[in-house]
Amino acid sequence: MQSFESILVEHDEHVVVLTINRPDKLNALNSVVIRELTAAVRGLEQLDPQPRCAILTGAGDKAFVAGADIAEMSTLSVAEAKVFGHAGHALCTAIELSSFPVIAAVNGFALGGGCELALACDFIYAVDNAKFGQPEVNLGLMPGFGGTQRLARRVGVGLARELIYTADAISAERAAAIGLVNQVVPKGELLARARETAAKIASKAPLAVSSAKRVILRGSDADLQAANELEATAFAALFGSADQREGTRAFLAKQKPTFTGR
Ligand code: COA
Repeated sequence: MQSFESILVEHDEHVVVLTINRPDKLNALNSVVIRELTAAVRGLEQLDPQPRCAILTGAGDKAFVAGADIAEMSTLSVAEAKVFGHAGHALCTAIELSSFPVIAAVNGFALGGGCELALACDFIYAVDNAKFGQPEVNLGLMPGFGGTQRLARRVGVGLARELIYTADAISAERAAAIGLVNQVVPKGELLARARETAAKIASKAPLAVSSAKRVILRGSDADLQAANELEATAFAALFGSADQREGTRAFLAKQKPTFTGR
């Protein structure tokens, strides 16, 4: 795996922790961070075996990501902004389409592009002093890395409109109440809690988890019949896997299964 200027990649057997490492700028997403994080996520897809779960977090104790880099954006032309926006979308899509779950461990501010990045992950754990928001209208802008779509799909259109139009930042507790955050964790315990969940996911059958991820994503934008068809096809396909035989065999033999991801 290549090394990066702004991203730290830490591996153990099945779990990878990706840390955006630009704490002096509150981990703001400039072109370098966006390019490197996209490459890091795509690089993990190429590994054999692939990770079974990843955790995405920010360096320092202040911010997950305080947004797209405002200094870099301040001079963009329309054409350059299009390239920048596409790069942000490509990053979020790479995370969303990755074959393993990605947990966002939000260790502080998740504003603008930071909130959008967290939304592209499978689910979010946050420290109790984290803040979430889409403050782009304060800058004469609007969300540009998927916020108008993923936030509305996650918390509902009405709340997404209110958050985007007012630019209000909300607490982790409020974010949990509206379904944006799965777990609010005391400061200092965030990574341990995310690792615990990642290890649990990594202990399950990888192809089964990966298929469920794909069907949940693809199905969320399809009508119910089409989505159920996707599920039925993916369910059946798993019967061709060694892990399906191992999982059912181990259950019937009252043993612990050993999954290989095959
Ligand atoms: N882009 C570029 N730089 C950013 C940034 C961003 N989105 N957010 C913070 N920074 C930089 C600051 O410019 C500052 O750099 P400096 O030390 O060289 O001056 C550094 O990070 C620390 O930020 P600072 O504003 O001093 O911290 P704070 O604790 O006073 O405030 C925030 C924290 C998050 C409230 C504030 O930084 C903020 O409002 N950031 C922008 C949020 C935003 O609008 N995001 C959406 C962008 S589309």
